[in-house]
Amino acid sequence: MTQANLVYITDVELRPSPVTAVTPTIHKPTEADIPGLVALVNTYARRGDLLPRSAEQIRASLPTWVIGKLGDEVVACGSLLHYSPHLAEVRSLAVADVAQGTGLGRKIVEALMAEASGRGIPTLFALTRAVPFFLKLGFAITEKEFFPQKVWTDCSVCPLKDACDETAVVFKLVMNNE
Ligand SMILES: CC(C)(COP(=O)(O)OP(=O)(O)OC[C@H]1O[C@@H](n2cnc3c(N)ncnc32)[C@H](O)[C@@H]1OP(=O)(O)O)[C@@H](O)C(=O)NCCC(=O)NCCS
Repeated sequence: MTQANLVYITDVELRPSPVTAVTPTIHKPTEADIPGLVALVNTYARRGDLLPRSAEQIRASLPTWVIGKLGDEVVACGSLLHYSPHLAEVRSLAVADVAQGTGLGRKIVEALMAEASGRGIPTLFALTRAVPFFLKLGFAITEKEFFPQKVWTDCSVCPLKDACDETAVVFKLVMNNE
């Protein structure tokens, strides 16, 4: 397996929640986290930021998820969908209102970058309305059409497919063999 150069992973520390004064932590989820994950993802799905996910869908893809917790509560999540040995999508990224501003969004994406690099996957993309956040993390704006696999699967069944307000962003991981 190709090992990647992880210099892009920042040393930015997680900060305490301004609401609870508790510092969040990052984990791989277990079965016990699924109800919290479903609640978080579907809160943002109702706001139009994410596609909805059922408990069954999350359970079936559990190893691909990373979560942030405040105590026992799931307050952040993201998952990595592998399209090919060369391409993966950062998806279902969300940070609960109570934990925003703590750095959790960055830490979740960096954890997914580390997973991708550990698997030798050189390119990550996202379709998002949170463009300034992704630009801050080093992603660049690109064209959706570069990711036909995404367009054929999620986009083709999306109710907003003819009026999509999401932007494609891409991140190229630096691999040691480059
Ligand atoms: C986008 C989201 C995940 C960001 O999470 P977050 O925990 O608030 O972000 P972080 O605290 O890790 O921010 C990391 C950096 O990005 C910046 N940033 C975050 N949101 C930003 C925004 N909307 N505009 C500009 N910069 C932003 C932060 O200031 C921070 O910069 P710093 O490191 O210099 O302080 C969160 O706002 C969210 O859940 N949004 C709704 C769901 C969504 O849109 N998900 C994306 C779907 S792909």
